[in-house]
Amino acid sequence: MTTQNDLSADWLQSVRWNSLEDRLDLLDQRLLPEKIVYLELTSAEQVWDAIKQLAVRGAPAIGIAAAFGVYLGVRAFGGSREELLAEVVRKCDYLATSRPTAVNLFWALDRMRARGEALLGGSADTSVEAAKQALLAEARTIQAEDEETCRLIGEHALGLFEDGMGVLTHCNAGGLATARYGTALAPMYLAKEKGLSLKVFADETRPVLQGARLTAFELQQAGVDVTLICDNMAGAVMAKGWVQAVIVGTDRVAANGDVANKIGTYSVAVLAKAHGIPFYVACPMSTIDLTTPTGADIPIEERHEDEITQGFGKRTAPEGVKVYNPAFDVTPNEYVTAIITEKGVIRAPYDVNLKKLFK
Ligand code: MRU
Repeated sequence: MTTQNDLSADWLQSVRWNSLEDRLDLLDQRLLPEKIVYLELTSAEQVWDAIKQLAVRGAPAIGIAAAFGVYLGVRAFGGSREELLAEVVRKCDYLATSRPTAVNLFWALDRMRARGEALLGGSADTSVEAAKQALLAEARTIQAEDEETCRLIGEHALGLFEDGMGVLTHCNAGGLATARYGTALAPMYLAKEKGLSLKVFADETRPVLQGARLTAFELQQAGVDVTLICDNMAGAVMAKGWVQAVIVGTDRVAANGDVANKIGTYSVAVLAKAHGIPFYVACPMSTIDLTTPTGADIPIEERHEDEITQGFGKRTAPEGVKVYNPAFDVTPNEYVTAIITEKGVIRAPYDVNLKKLFK
């Protein structure tokens, strides 16, 4: 574990490959904003745990971490080429059990598996050691591509905003949740670069406060105008006329344009519609899952009751109370004004236009 308290760094990388030590340094997002601590991970099991426990979270960041996890899981493997391929597949299957909702996790693992098959299957003749290095290179490529993708998402999203606008966001779809820039927060960073100012309202995002701990933190570090509100204040802020757009990230977009994102997103979408405010969803193409027909088919993770019954360092609910703690909800496509990807801005009908994107 290393601690870095240098907040002057212009951005914090949530997933860092440490080539000198051949290990994954992962920013422990559970400790933010109080402490900046990097976990030093050397095994697939540690990566699985970091994903499960939310040390790394946010759909693209989870996928990137898992890709490195595959390499960590096989780098000491001593068998034949065929056995290495079987081990790559096993590690991919194992890492895929860490969290169920963000499709980027499965997308990244499918990509690592496909790379393994291309290197080690059939007529390929890559040596075991060369194949391991190529798997590491693939994980690094996934990370580098995500940075580029997020920047493009930011460019497209910024085209929808005007200087001085109030923009509300929920959860954290920022640099911490991706390789850099974020998806929903990318236009905020690009606006800053271009000398435009957006007034961001960040929902605190119960139960584990990604909005308060992460979004407010990273935007404040970057000098973006950010105001933190409790989740139940979004309607009041909209009614005051302070919000001209909502933008959120997503963990999975179904083929019909229904969108799964952090619990509470659906309520924000309904509020936005009631106030005539556009509701935008920003994501890489890797978050769009055409094999999932509708939002009802998206597996929604349920997490431990402690996240709700304990907070602020103490018990906040009576012992034995019944708890329901879904980590995500689904916003039906009719509430979604547009989906912004690296390829541009997509509008309804989503069942037709999402398919076209992949042609
Ligand atoms: O439980 P989390 O913190 O992983 O949930 C994260 C979100 O819901 C994000 O909005 C989503 O993953 C998009 S991140 C670019």
